[in-house]
Amino acid sequence: MTEATEQPAVPDEIPAVAAQRPITTVQQHILDQQRRFPGASGSFSWLLSGITLTTKMIAARVRRAGLIDEATGAIGATNVQGEVQQKLDVYANQVMVHNLSLRESVAVLASEENEQPLLVAGEDPMAQYGIIFDPLDGSSNIDVGVSVGTTFSILKCDPGRKVNDLSELVLQPGTRQVAAGYVVYGSSVILVYTAGNGVHGFTLDPAIGAYVLSHENIRMPQQGKYYSVNEAYADSFPEVYRTYLDRLRKGALGQKYGSRYIGSMVADFHRTLLKGGVFLYPPTAENPDGKLRLMYEANPVAMLAEQAGGVATTGDRRVLDVMPTDIHQRTPIVCGGQVEMEDFRRCTIEAGL
Ligand code: AHG
Ligand code: MN
Ligand code: MN
Repeated sequence: MTEATEQPAVPDEIPAVAAQRPITTVQQHILDQQRRFPGASGSFSWLLSGITLTTKMIAARVRRAGLIDEATGAIGATNVQGEVQQKLDVYANQVMVHNLSLRESVAVLASEENEQPLLVAGEDPMAQYGIIFDPLDGSSNIDVGVSVGTTFSILKCDPGRKVNDLSELVLQPGTRQVAAGYVVYGSSVILVYTAGNGVHGFTLDPAIGAYVLSHENIRMPQQGKYYSVNEAYADSFPEVYRTYLDRLRKGALGQKYGSRYIGSMVADFHRTLLKGGVFLYPPTAENPDGKLRLMYEANPVAMLAEQAGGVATTGDRRVLDVMPTDIHQRTPIVCGGQVEMEDFRRCTIEAGL
């Protein structure tokens, strides 16, 4: 063996793996964002990690639906909305509550599955966040292998608060959200969030168990191809919605729209966010105020839509401006790209609304 071959080879080029674009995990992304805001502490990223951990646990169970008894079917009870609770609704809620209540910065939690908010840290001024969530959205789809989701809305609680009525801690309009987002458990698992500085998407890489940046600075297309609504209720939609859908179908916006409706808000909104178009849940005979819940369904998607350049309205005003009086209150919602939403506005004006 010559002297030369005894020396370790000095690489003259960067190994292939390092030459690839470095990955950005969601934790790294949040820390980078925090650096841009002087005074921001690490508590926010620690809090978000409670949500990412929870959604990975839910994703793992969703993936096994059909194989384990705990992941499919109803539990035989109803929640505060009077809706049938699926086993996965209960599991997702327990995990979210458990993981988030361990975060010191959380003051209060409110969930679709709990009638009252859950107090975590009382009047501790260091506990500054209230988190409102739908642990499992679209849960009736779980038994048939269709996409479901988790939504979250993060609000700041008054540090000098007196805790008399827990709801008061979180009854704030959507404009006060400091961050919001969702995870869609679909053909891949994708986390989308905004902290008021654009909308960013991360795909769960199952090989490494991390959410990796895959959709940076998402912009909702100005115009899409689809509207998304449960048309079975169309006969009981207020007239303005029927007129609007007719215009979309008949080409009044320069093209004839097709329709896509999954029945999981997160999945329907996720498509609308990436591909454009409009998502609607109007008032119906059965649900005169719409079906979706303002604080943990409409507000997160409205903040994301606006941050991505879209619009979200209740039909007569901006979703984010609604002052809630009940954590479980419902609202109609129409949410989409600039072209579709401009036409919806025109329809409401013509209808004298
Ligand atoms: P959840 O499973 O959290 O109760 O939400 C279900 C919601 C929402 O995901 C979806 O947009 C809507 O229900 C579908 O309702 P319809 O079946 O009335 O269209
Ligand atoms: Mn829901
Ligand atoms: Mn739900």
